[in-house]
This record gives sequence, C-alpha cells and structure tokens, in this order.
Amino acid sequence: MKITYFDHSSTTPVDKKVLKEMLPYFSDDFGNASSLHSLGRMAAKAVEKSRVCVANFLNCSSDEIIFTSGSTESNNIVIKGIIKALDGKKKHIITSAIEHDSILEPYADLKKQGIEVTYIPVKGNGVVDIESLKKAIKKETILVSIMYANNEVGSIQPIAEIGKLLSKINHKIYFHTDATQAVNALPCDVKKLGVDYLSLSGHKIYGPKGVGALFVKSGSPLKALQLGGHQEKNLRSGTYNVPGIVGLGRAVELVEKDREKNNKKIDKLRKILIEKVLKNIPDTVLNTDILNALPSHAHFSFMGTEGESIMLALDFKGIEVSTGSACASGSLEPSGTLLAMGIKPETAHGSIRFSLGKENTIEDVDRVIKYLPGIISKFRKMNPLYKK
Ligand SMILES: Cc1ncc(COP(=O)(O)O)c(C=O)c1O
Repeated sequence: MKITYFDHSSTTPVDKKVLKEMLPYFSDDFGNASSLHSLGRMAAKAVEKSRVCVANFLNCSSDEIIFTSGSTESNNIVIKGIIKALDGKKKHIITSAIEHDSILEPYADLKKQGIEVTYIPVKGNGVVDIESLKKAIKKETILVSIMYANNEVGSIQPIAEIGKLLSKINHKIYFHTDATQAVNALPCDVKKLGVDYLSLSGHKIYGPKGVGALFVKSGSPLKALQLGGHQEKNLRSGTYNVPGIVGLGRAVELVEKDREKNNKKIDKLRKILIEKVLKNIPDTVLNTDILNALPSHAHFSFMGTEGESIMLALDFKGIEVSTGSACASGSLEPSGTLLAMGIKPETAHGSIRFSLGKENTIEDVDRVIKYLPGIISKFRKMNPLYKK
C-alpha cells in the first residue's frame, strides 16, 4: 500500500544526500573520534567539520556547540545543568504551558526539589502572552525556557522579542529555546534570537535519529549530568555518534539551502489541505493560526469524534497523521497545549495534526480528501451524543 506521510513533526525520512554522507562512518571510517590513531583522527575531523556546519547554521562559534542524542537530552542538560551550576542560589524559573514533555518534566522535577516554577499562559492562537511573562519575572528568576515553535499546532513564539525583553532586566536571566520544530522553517541565528541556549534534533530535519545539538553561549553556566568519558568539554560524556553527527551537519546545510523553496511549497499545499478539509467536513475547527504558525502544520478538531480512532482509520488507508490528544500514552487526557489555548476538552478530543514535509504532493492532499470526510461522518453516526 502507498504510504501518504503527514507526520513530519514526529519524524522525517533521512534525506538521501544526508545518508550518503553518513554511510562511510558506519563501516570503512568507523573510528572512535576520541582515539588518537589515524582512524580515530579521521572520525574526529568529521565530527569537527559537522560542528562547524551546525555553528554556521546558528551563527555562533563551533566551541559553543555540544552534540547530544537529540532534543530530549539537550533540554534536560540545559534545565538541570544550569540549576546544578548555580547551586545554592535562590531560584525561580519560567516556562510556557505548551512546552514539550522534555521541558515540562524536568521543570516538574525541579519544582519537587523546591524550585519555584511559573508557567506562562498562551493566547487562543497558541502564542505565549508576553505581558504575563513580564509580570512573572522577579529578582530570583534565573532561567526562562520557551519553545521556538509548538509541536502540536505549530504556533511560532516571539523568541527574539523575549530575548530583547530579558536583556533589559537588570540581573542576568538565562534564556533557552527548544527549537526542535522550528529549525526546518525559521531562521535560527542565536544572536538575533538573543538566546543563551538552543536545542535542536536531527530527525526532525531529514537527518538521523539519536543525534542532536545544544548551543551554549560562551560563559553561560552549565554542569554535566553525565560523567565518565570527558567528551564535549566534559559536558556530555559518551562515545561520539560519528555517523549521526555527520548526518546532522549535512542536514542543517540542506535546511539552510532549501528553506525558502521548501517553506513556499509546503505552505501552499497546507493551505489547499485546510481549504479542502474545511469545505468537505462540516463542524470542523482549525486550531492552527496560519498567520502565526510554521508552514507545515494544520491541526483540526472534528466535533463529535475521537482523534485516536480517526488516526487509526486513516492509517488503515495508508495515511499517517498524529492525534492531538495524549491517547498514545494510554491516557484519555486531552492535550495540555490545546487546553492551554482555551479549547474545550470535548473539542480537543477529536483532534488530528497534519504536519507536512518537503516530499508531500497535491496527490497526497487528494488522498486525504478522498477518505477523511467518510471516516468523520461514520464516527459521528456512531456517536449518540453528536447531533448536527
Ligand atoms: C518541541 C519538541 N521538543 C523536543 C522533542 C524531543 O526531541 P527528540 O526526539 O530529539 O528527543 C520533540 C519531539 O517531538 C519536540 O517536538
């Protein structure tokens, strides 16, 4: 069966150009980048070349890049590593209500340890409320972590504006952004964004899984969570994932080169998808504010339905999407992001996220429109509470 893939927010296929670059480092050039012999030095050279690519992409120095296993690790290292480094000081940290669990869970953990946490609300379009952020800042605040773009509805956060705001506060507040979802579509110049730390991940940008990077502005506090191998200036011990790191370096180069072209193409398809879904399926809410969102995202709630059933029915037709509710974890709790946007739980339950990628075509959109209206109508007929 032909697979129609609309779940690029979850992961992307590795670009063939990226794969080609990676392949030698699995076999012929398999050295450990920490070894001093020639095979090791060759691997180390490849790691350093990739570090320069990532640094160029972020407009920073290559000394400011740490390779990790992905954004979950980058986020954990930053949040816990700063607190560890600033041990003994009275602390208050700020984040938003719509962050990924790899931010929310470390924050929750720190809260249990007695650190004060403020969660900034978002507006109805999924964009953080800057006024609430301003009010939340106090003299004990040491860290603000706000994602660059949301993974569910795709809302883009005003990172540069927050960076400016924090730079004017008369004590240092470190600023981290989780740029995992933004990297494909948005410029990631850390100087223009005004961030001290930035997380990104290979597999969201047509690179490999299990590799990511963390930008740490020179002089910013950070203490390692993982000890042992002394790699990455002692900040992230563990044998280098050389093929992964090489793939990440190539992936960011391609993102930069093709960003404008891909954004245009994806946005055009996304608009057609939205128009056709809203035209063909009544009683549907679009939760993505396309004026303030990544070009890839189209997040819908279909009233009187349940997202997981729709996702499975589409999967049966070879169309891969993601559900907006947290049913994948076995919980029937609706998504925290949607609730934070003021969407009612019963609306949030019937949600589906389409996240488009550079290889999608108009035929893919047509396949959705061929099957989705019938699927929604069938589920609504089965729901005695749905009357329309
Ligand atoms: C916003 C955001 N942050 C962090 C992550 C975790 O990234 P990784 O899979 O590289 O650990 C994801 C993954 O979906 C994400 O969307």
